[in-house]
Amino acid sequence: MNQPSLYTPRLILRPYQPADASEVQRLAGAAAVAETTLNIPHPYADGMAEAWIATHRAAWEAGTAVTFAITTVDDALRGTVSLQLTRSHGRGELGYWIGQPYWGRGLATEAVTALLRFAFEDLHLNRLQASYLPRNPASGRVLAKVGMLREGLHRERFRKGDTFEDVVECAILQREWRAGRDLTRDGAT
Ligand SMILES: CC(C)(COP(=O)(O)OP(=O)(O)OC[C@H]1O[C@@H](n2cnc3c(N)ncnc32)[C@H](O)[C@@H]1OP(=O)(O)O)[C@@H](O)C(=O)NCCC(=O)NCCS
Repeated sequence: MNQPSLYTPRLILRPYQPADASEVQRLAGAAAVAETTLNIPHPYADGMAEAWIATHRAAWEAGTAVTFAITTVDDALRGTVSLQLTRSHGRGELGYWIGQPYWGRGLATEAVTALLRFAFEDLHLNRLQASYLPRNPASGRVLAKVGMLREGLHRERFRKGDTFEDVVECAILQREWRAGRDLTRDGAT
C-alpha cells in the first residue's frame, strides 16, 4: 500500500516530495525550530532535506516510520508530523514541528489529531508516545489537547549542545483514544 494522505478541515498531510526540500530547509532550518527538537540539525545544510526526504519511502515500506508533510489545501508547506514505528509492540513515537511564522494557529494540534486517528484506526497501533522538553510548554499543550497523559520526567536523558536536557514523556493508548472520541461524539466534554 502506498502511504496515504490525510485530510483535516484546514490541512492535507501528504507524503513528502523531492520538490519540498527547499521549503523544509527554510522552515526547519530556523533556529527556533531546532531549539526545542532533538533531531533537527542546525545549521540545516544544503542537501540535508533532500537526503531526509529520500529515506521516507523505504521507511514506510519497511514499516519503521511514516512521515507526513503538513500542507495547506493549496499545498503550501507548514510543517512535519511523523511516527517512528515499533510494530512488534504496536507502538509509535510521535514527532512534529510547525514553521515558526505559523505557530499559534492550532496547526500542530490539528495535524497530530489526524495522525492519532491514522495510527489507531489504520495502523492499528496500541500505544502512541511522545516526549518534549519542559522548557517547551507549547508542545506539552499540544499533547495534552490530543489526550496524551504525562507518564513521567526523564532527568537529563538527552544531550543538546553542552546541556543535558530533562524530557517529559507522554502517551495515549488506543482504548483511551477511542473512549475520548466517543465522549466527543456524544457531545460530552
Ligand atoms: C510546539 C509546536 C509544534 C506547536 O505548534 P503550534 O501549531 O503553534 O501549536 P498549536 O497552535 O496547535 O497549540 C499550541 C498550544 O500551546 C499554547 N502555548 C503556546 N506557547 C505557550 C507557552 N509558552 N506556555 C504555555 N502554553 C503555550 C498555545 O496557547 C496553544 O494552546 P491553546 O490552544 O490551549 O491556546 C511549535 O511551536 C514548534 O514547531 N516548535 C518547534 C519544534 C518543536 O518544539 N516540536 C515539538 C518537539 S517535542
